[in-house]
Amino acid sequence: MTLLSAAAKVRENAHAPYSQFKVGAAIRTVSGRVFTGCNVENVAYPEGTCAEAGAIAAMVAAGEREIAEAAVIADSPDPVPPCGGCRQKLAEFAGPDVPVTLATSAGASTTTTVGALLPGAFTASHMEGS
Ligand code: THU
Repeated sequence: MTLLSAAAKVRENAHAPYSQFKVGAAIRTVSGRVFTGCNVENVAYPEGTCAEAGAIAAMVAAGEREIAEAAVIADSPDPVPPCGGCRQKLAEFAGPDVPVTLATSAGASTTTTVGALLPGAFTASHMEGS
């Protein structure tokens, strides 16, 4: 199963009754394991979580921390880009060169990198010397 098909499969489980916008995300770690997540909305809207956050939480809970590749899919007109918060979350566990594939359910896709998604990222190095 490709990373994108893993993201498409978990997307079916998304809980998105408020936006009707289901998102699936899949992460492959450097060890080769794949973790998936979908968006989980809440009636108290700010409590909802993104698909990427779910995949990252599953990865960390399993004891892994190094992302080698990520994929995100939604039924959107154009390949779905991670939100700003998720770009920062990805950057916590992925170097700037890590590829991120953005896709639509209709079959369009594009591949970018964590660095291109979050140029000038705030990193731990910015806190050195404080
Ligand atoms: N969403 C994600 O899951 N990931 C993103 O990067 C973009 C937005 C979800 C959050 C919310 O449940 C729905 O899409 C509409 O914003």
